[in-house]
Amino acid sequence: MQLPAPRGPLTALLFERLACPPHEFGPPPVPSRTPALEDEDLQLALFACYELHYRGFAEVDEEWEWEPSLLAVRGALERRFEDGLARSVPRPVPTFSASIRRALAELTAAATGPDLSGFLQHEADLAQFREFVAHRSIYHLKEADPHTWAIPRLHGGPKAALVEIQADEYGGGHAGRMHSELFRTTMRRLGMDDSYGAYLDRVPAITLAVSNAMSLFGLHRRHLGALLGHLTAFEMTSSIPNRRYSMGLRRLGGDEEARRFYDEHVQADAVHEQIAAHDMCGGFVRQYPARAGDVLYGTACALTLERLFAEHVMDNWRRGASSLREAGLTVGSR
Ligand SMILES: [Fe+2]
Repeated sequence: MQLPAPRGPLTALLFERLACPPHEFGPPPVPSRTPALEDEDLQLALFACYELHYRGFAEVDEEWEWEPSLLAVRGALERRFEDGLARSVPRPVPTFSASIRRALAELTAAATGPDLSGFLQHEADLAQFREFVAHRSIYHLKEADPHTWAIPRLHGGPKAALVEIQADEYGGGHAGRMHSELFRTTMRRLGMDDSYGAYLDRVPAITLAVSNAMSLFGLHRRHLGALLGHLTAFEMTSSIPNRRYSMGLRRLGGDEEARRFYDEHVQADAVHEQIAAHDMCGGFVRQYPARAGDVLYGTACALTLERLFAEHVMDNWRRGASSLREAGLTVGSR
């Protein structure tokens, strides 16, 4: 993947530096006053910093990954992101009389937001479905990777449970069955570019924030509980929407191969839901009772970001506008 186009002074400076050999970064520009979850410049900068821990960028030296001065800059950006999340996501209070499984079920059942999956099932046109796929490609092309950071940090039952889920995500030893590969097939069948990061320039701050939250929770051991809660939110809330995405794609002429990614998740996530909530989160909270609140916070973050994403997409579609950024658009706006 190539470095994307900058979206403001922060990413302009960051990408200029990253294209050079690693060196002392120095102070970043003064932070903008835009709310963190809507700040294009902040979210893209964080996304790029995190990407150095995944597959990186073609023109960026691998040594940048652990350059202390860049990590210090990333730390400052993360504090803004964490503050933004804290302002948008009320921290659920764990009730110790209820099991964590029950608390997770109540939290996910209470989630609100526009009916994006219903719209995709019944009303979206092909261009809108492709837009949806472009947004999702930011995560689905590295599907499961952020949650894999939790594996070496866990032990016993919760570790075994997470590995069981991740083994399915990674295709159980078959490259062609990896969920990221199934998604690439969906993209190709829709006539889209399936290369890693192809739509990075087109997606707005909220789509990047959805991915950045996973990387934030994944890369910091102090957020281990939140990472598990985040994954569990995905597993508990995705069976029904995935069935709707598949039905919408069939309505729009998508064949079985195009729909396999979604069909796979209808089945897999119903099973994963039990493993995630009961074996993984339940086991983790038995090991670390004081971290029940972290688990629920991670779930709440995932649900809130998903709602904000759906609001962004549906608000634009209702106005007859695109939910993506114009290609090549640079500073500030969507
Ligand atoms: Fe998956």
